[in-house]
Amino acid sequence: MNLNIRLARHEDISDILCIEQSIERDAPASRQTLVGRLEMFPDGFLVANNDLQLIGYIESCIFNEHPFSKYDDIRHFSTIHYLNGAILFIIFIGVDERFQKMGVGSSLINVLKKKIQLKYPHIQKIHLVSKERYVNSFYRKNGFRIIKPLPDYMPSYAGMLMEYQYHNDRL
Ligand SMILES: CC(C)(COP(=O)(O)OP(=O)(O)OC[C@H]1O[C@@H](n2cnc3c(N)ncnc32)[C@H](O)[C@@H]1OP(=O)(O)O)[C@@H](O)C(=O)NCCC(=O)NCCS
Repeated sequence: MNLNIRLARHEDISDILCIEQSIERDAPASRQTLVGRLEMFPDGFLVANNDLQLIGYIESCIFNEHPFSKYDDIRHFSTIHYLNGAILFIIFIGVDERFQKMGVGSSLINVLKKKIQLKYPHIQKIHLVSKERYVNSFYRKNGFRIIKPLPDYMPSYAGMLMEYQYHNDRL
């Protein structure tokens, strides 16, 4: 499959919303939320396209060490987003169900890691909260380690705080 990963644009939002609604059936982000995340940090919002269509996306922001236990503690990302912060936080990653398990999610993470390292070299680590089923199958394979469980992260599921350290790449 030909995969092109690039910065997201406003005209991608409808396609992103379509995927979001099909993979996050319980609580999809709204169009307004997605536009807000794109405008907050365009360098941290990437999309993946095959030859025909948009098939995946990843959204992020930057903050400093920020203790939280629930999604509600951080959900207003624009209030904590700070370009000089030390931590890139992956807010969400999604791949169209028809194209999952083909390497698209891993490519999105790898391209984001590289773009951020080039433009924001002060960033030392990446954090995210994983759903249980992706901890070992997806994030550990992509170089993340477990920090701690967040049992109350979402009303519908527990989360696992995970970390990737750029430092390990430079050894
Ligand atoms: C998580 C997600 C982005 C991974 O994207 P992807 O393109 O499928 O990932 P990759 O193809 O790069 O997969 C890498 C590994 O993750 C594992 N994996 C991918 N999707 C999986 C799934 N649904 N269940 C279990 N493991 C999965 C694969 O086993 C794969 O390992 P392998 O290559 O050794 O088999 C994608 O499954 C998704 O969009 N899920 C729904 C949205 C979501 O919940 N996002 C937030 C996750 S915390």
